[in-house]
Formats: sequence, structure tokens, C-alpha cells
Amino acid sequence: MPLKSIYLVPHGGVIIPGMEPGRDDDPQRKAAADKLLQRMEQIGQEIRDDNIEIVFITSPHGYMHPTDVLVNFNSVLEGWQYFHEKGEVQQQIFPANSQLAQIFHLLLEQEGIKVSPVILADANFPIKISWGEGIPLHFISSPEGPQVVMFSLPMNAGEEGNLESINGVADVLLNLLDAPMMEEHNVSVVISGDLSHRHDSHHEYGFHDNAQPFDEGVMEWIDEPTPEKYMELLNLHDDAASCGIFGMGLIQRMLERLEWQPVYSDYALPTYFGMAVSCWKPEV
Ligand SMILES: [Fe+2]
Repeated sequence: MPLKSIYLVPHGGVIIPGMEPGRDDDPQRKAAADKLLQRMEQIGQEIRDDNIEIVFITSPHGYMHPTDVLVNFNSVLEGWQYFHEKGEVQQQIFPANSQLAQIFHLLLEQEGIKVSPVILADANFPIKISWGEGIPLHFISSPEGPQVVMFSLPMNAGEEGNLESINGVADVLLNLLDAPMMEEHNVSVVISGDLSHRHDSHHEYGFHDNAQPFDEGVMEWIDEPTPEKYMELLNLHDDAASCGIFGMGLIQRMLERLEWQPVYSDYALPTYFGMAVSCWKPEV
């Protein structure tokens, strides 16, 4: 199978030095952020070492539709990151695979999944992306590649009965990667999402007793991603407020079919929300 790896990655700006004021003022905070930075740099290196040509990425902060999966059809992604300390905006360009995105869209449609394309102007025009994709891609891609296929889950993904559609998206993705046209390619799936946002009473999301149990549950789920463990996370999510919960649902479904093992994982709390990095690969 061309799928070589699945990653769960964080997307907080605190990972990248200079993006958030005060990042390095507190040694504990700096150490937590640096741990994630090193892991993200490692993932970038792995992507290059594994000769990954195509990355499917989804985040909860991109283009979103209330009820539809969205698939980007533009062939250039324009990331832009604000470095608060210097007052500078840095632009980054990533190539996107418009043709593969269109095939993915078609297959989702054929499976009866509600899906719409996103296109800005014409397909060759760069489309702006948010930090949800931009921060992971900062480590993973470059103007030379790998090419990106960007999609998002619907905003109603968490509503009753809609988890089935998350499973449907994961199934279509795996079926696409099994197709003969993909045989010659190396592919990685990157799920961008963070853990509980309710670790700090001084922040607008506030504090909840279930923030820490949720984050601990995610780290246990990474090692043993069973449907039961994922359901426990879904229950805690109401209190814990995690932007990564439905992306993790995609991973849950894919790993049920693939039966891969986790290769490494890390957790850190360098800000008011928890962040996890994890990698799954086939057993060698
Ligand atoms: Fe987020």
C-alpha cells in the first residue's frame, strides 16, 4: 500500500520560536514547546527520508461547511504565519495535487457522503490556508513538495449519527490509496488537531476537571486505539473541548483497518491547551 505513515500533529504557534510572545520566558514552557518542535522537525525529516510525495491533511480550522466535507481544488496553498515578536508575516507556498483532490471528491460523492469542492478563482491561483494546516506543513512540505491534498470534515461531524460519515471518509481515503493509480506513490496522512483547551482558568475557554483526564486518555488511545477508548474520549470531549477529536476519529477508523502500531508519541502542555504528536507506521 502506498500509505507509509499516519501522523497526529499539533498546530499551536507556540511550537515555532518567535511566533508567540513570551514563548521562551518560562523555562518549563520553553522546554515543552521545544519538545514538540523537535518532534515536528523529526516528522519533516521522516517525510523526506520516506520519499513521501503526497500528503493528505485535514485540520479543524480551515475552510469548513456546516454539513459537507470540503476538498480543496486549488493547486497552490499559501500559508502565512505571523511572527509577533518581530511584527513580521512570513509567507510559505506548498504545492497541492488538484487532480487527486478531484478524484477524492468524486469517490466521496459516489459513496453518498455530502461533499463540496473549495476553489478560489481558478485552480492555479494560490488559496490561503490557516494555522491548522500551515503550521504542520511548515515542517512537512516546501515549494518542492510533497504535494498536499487538503480537506476538512463537516462542522456537524460530532452530532449524533454523524460519526458514521467520519468512518465513511476514512474508508474512501483508504480505498483510494488502495487503487492501482496510487501504486507507484508514497503517501502520508496528517491529522492536525490539539487536545483539551480547558487547562487554564485565565483563558477564555476556562478550566475543567476533565481536561487532564481527556489528554491522558488521548495518550492511552494513541498506544491502543480501540473504538471503546475513542468513545470514552468523545464523552470527555464535551467538557474538555478538543479541536482534534474528530480528526482522531479518522485515525481510529483507519487504524482499525490497517492494524498498524504506534511508533512514538509525545505530549506537552506549553500553553492553555494540550498538544500531542504521534506517528503510526506499518510493522516492519
Ligand atoms: Fe486547534
